[in-house]
Amino acid sequence: NKGKYEHYMQKEIHEQPESLTTSMRGRLIRGGSSKKKSVLLGGLKDHLKTIRRSRRIVFIGCGTSYNAALAARPILEELSDIPVMMEIASDLLDRQAPVYRDDTIIFVSQSGETADTLNALEYARENGALCVGITNTVGSAIARNTHCGVHINAGSEIGVASTKAYTSQIVVLAMVALAIGADTVSTKQRREGIIESLLNLPGKIREVLKLDEQMKDLARSLISEQSLVMFGRGYNYATALEGALKVKEVALMHSEGILAGEMKHGLLALVDENLPIVVITTRDQCFSKQQSVIQQLKAKRSTDSYVYRRRCSNLPLQLLAYHLTVLRGYNVDQPRNLAKSVTTE
Ligand code: UD1
Ligand code: BG6
Repeated sequence: NKGKYEHYMQKEIHEQPESLTTSMRGRLIRGGSSKKKSVLLGGLKDHLKTIRRSRRIVFIGCGTSYNAALAARPILEELSDIPVMMEIASDLLDRQAPVYRDDTIIFVSQSGETADTLNALEYARENGALCVGITNTVGSAIARNTHCGVHINAGSEIGVASTKAYTSQIVVLAMVALAIGADTVSTKQRREGIIESLLNLPGKIREVLKLDEQMKDLARSLISEQSLVMFGRGYNYATALEGALKVKEVALMHSEGILAGEMKHGLLALVDENLPIVVITTRDQCFSKQQSVIQQLKAKRSTDSYVYRRRCSNLPLQLLAYHLTVLRGYNVDQPRNLAKSVTTE
């Protein structure tokens, strides 16, 4: 039921304040008698000791789920102090990459049924790793076959392009990072700051959703373009990849997400008067570096647009991809050649 919305993707973008609230419900605790902020993930609590002892943590996923893991990687590294590696499921299998008994492997999948991710899970189990699932679907193959895990509880997602599941995956992975990380005097302030920000996120998202008209205007200006490049770094590297993936998937426009630090090693050659570029920048430790990227791009006189986002929200880019698709006249909920759940290799 789409309710007042024209498309499922639009509905799912707009219901993120609620889906994120559900993902955090009962898991983040603010205050109480001790006034202590804490995290409780029922699906992980018996395995935290083993995870903390792992030699490394490996994220495995496909498509948007991979991007969600990439978005969560910096916070997991910071809080756990364990090396975190990224693997695309099919690539891990193609390489038959080494997996060890003292690895913790986190499988991220909205549907819990993606063939490549499932095959990677089988491979990791055979190699004796601790397998953790992060999925939206109770009873799915990944939920059943992992040793433990967390349901993201985002509610069912109908649009083929993942939107609300993406943000819930990131929020759940941030909670996983808090659960794994040591809760000590020296980390208390930082941890409580993160918990407070997560709890405030649904309200912030309500604010960001007000950019709808602005993003529609931006989409209007891009309607006949051939290509759209997105630059991000740090926390926003994943935002750039995911923003570009959305534009490819639904708006059927070539789009690339680029790590801004790599700009001079290739993409700069394509920059001219006409190439539309989105630079994603937030007030974080990468802010001044991104300002310098903007200056360097401006010097090449490309058309530039700036999207400001808050941590953990690629929402303006979801809105952009949605409007671009509708304005270009394509099917937003069932893009050409794509399936919600890819159950073959
Ligand atoms: C669970 C209940 C929830 C209830 C809550 C009360 C379920 C599905 N969830 O939520 O309804 O309100 O307790 O305390 O019954 N798991 C995996 N792999 C995955 C995902 C999950 O093995 O990919 C396992 C977890 O380790 C856990 C179980 O599935 O044993 C449920 O996970 P989750 O729903 O995240 O747990 P709770 O949030 O505690
Ligand atoms: C498909 C979907 O390609 O599978 C994407 O169209 C999704 O939206 C990808 O990101 C991975 O799916 P899942 O269910 O494993 O997260």
